[in-house]
Amino acid sequence: MKVTFFGVGYVGLVQAAILADVGHHVVCVDVDQEKVDNLKKGIIPIYEPDLTPIVIENYQNGRLNFTTDAKSGVNHGEIQFIAVGTPPDEDGSADLQYVLAVAEMIATHMQGPKIIIDKSTVPVGTADKVSARVAEVLTSRGVSYAFNVVSNPEFLKEGSAVADCRRPDRIVVGTDSDTVADVLRELYAPFNRNHDRLIVMDIRSAELTKYAANCMLATKISFMNEIANLAERLGADIEAVRLGIGSDSRIGYQFIYPGCGYGGSCFPKDVQALIRTADAIGYQPEVLKSVEAVNYRQKEKLFAMISDHFSGELVGKTFALWGLSFKPNTDDMREAPSRVLMESLWAAGAKVQAYDPEAMQECQRIYGSRSDLALMETAEAALCDVDALVIVTEWQHFRAMDFDLIGDSMSEPVIFDGRNLYEPSRMRKHGITYYSIGRKMNGLKGAGCK
Ligand SMILES: NC(=O)c1ccc[n+]([C@@H]2O[C@H](COP(=O)([O-])OP(=O)(O)OC[C@H]3O[C@@H](n4cnc5c(N)ncnc54)[C@H](O)[C@@H]3O)[C@@H](O)[C@H]2O)c1
Repeated sequence: MKVTFFGVGYVGLVQAAILADVGHHVVCVDVDQEKVDNLKKGIIPIYEPDLTPIVIENYQNGRLNFTTDAKSGVNHGEIQFIAVGTPPDEDGSADLQYVLAVAEMIATHMQGPKIIIDKSTVPVGTADKVSARVAEVLTSRGVSYAFNVVSNPEFLKEGSAVADCRRPDRIVVGTDSDTVADVLRELYAPFNRNHDRLIVMDIRSAELTKYAANCMLATKISFMNEIANLAERLGADIEAVRLGIGSDSRIGYQFIYPGCGYGGSCFPKDVQALIRTADAIGYQPEVLKSVEAVNYRQKEKLFAMISDHFSGELVGKTFALWGLSFKPNTDDMREAPSRVLMESLWAAGAKVQAYDPEAMQECQRIYGSRSDLALMETAEAALCDVDALVIVTEWQHFRAMDFDLIGDSMSEPVIFDGRNLYEPSRMRKHGITYYSIGRKMNGLKGAGCK
């Protein structure tokens, strides 16, 4: 099938590449000329495991192409995906300007019927707005072509996006047309062989499903962080509690890890956007507001622990930071807890020596060169002459650390672990003062578990 994607970001690029890989002919349109030029040279703008060879191979075999020319993109595809960003507006609601700009672009150039698919995460009612914008432009052109607007939200996870697109848990399709549902069934057939993963529903339900999914996951995280904060104060150990509740099949083990808050380009903005949607219709979303409030507080937790430990005297101190991306296996630092921590440390007069396996370039892009930030080549190098180590992202290879190195690199070794990677008893054995989230030893008023 002939498919066009508007927006080659984390979602558009991965989905486009995977659809091309199973035989569809895909053209990607983006407004970012540099990105398009780089993609044609095989330079992939994001870090996503297994993505690069798929993009390069399908570009070379002609099934995947990149352009900034919207007209040729619109002419190419019977199916037009909108996969542009929907960042938060000033009040936290989803900013639809990029989605509607693409709708206008499609309507400006279309010469025949089109299926227009909202792949971006958009509030309930957006398909109506896209339809209205397309109809308006067609009327102003004095033409009348049939078009359908479909909601087909994306559930891929950064870090395992390729695998998620190849083997999706479900493919949600919101449409009021059986014919269109059949077209999408054909498009996604290669991913649907083992069992039917396509769930067809009305458009508004599909739009809400995406927000409900992300808000449920964010709720699990904030809930667990709340319980961890209670455990700390009550002399309980959150790791034991996690195992105790995860074993209940109604609860499950996934997404109940306590930590230093959720980040990324989706959860924070989607929780906020659904709160604004609720506000706009006069409904008080109490749970969602609490989820957001708990997360704000949790993102400040590492700094509060550090400040307590050093009695607020952070001027001139240097901290090793392991992990900058908002989660492992991505270079994405949007809304990452590391940013809240670094900015607080800098404001308090401290310096940061950071290491991340993939997000160093992104960090450099965001913060540029500054005297209180050093990006180090290795995790070990980041430990040189520091006052403490802070773990912010649970990259796999941080799990097996050389504890002697920690002892050697700090006169009074101390670790603030925002991801509960280590056993407190092991830390004690190595003479390391260890702070983590909701573990029993944290209860000893700032004394760590030494
Ligand atoms: N990142 C994720 O893990 C993820 C997962 C599921 C859903 N989503 C949703 O998917 C959407 C896209 O997210 P993303 O992370 O891929 O965004 P992104 O910022 O990585 O990419 C968006 C791309 O759209 C391009 N763009 C902007 N205006 C354009 C226009 N008029 N025409 C063509 N291209 C244009 C930008 O240049 C950019 O390359 C968002 O709504 C997001 O909430 C993201």
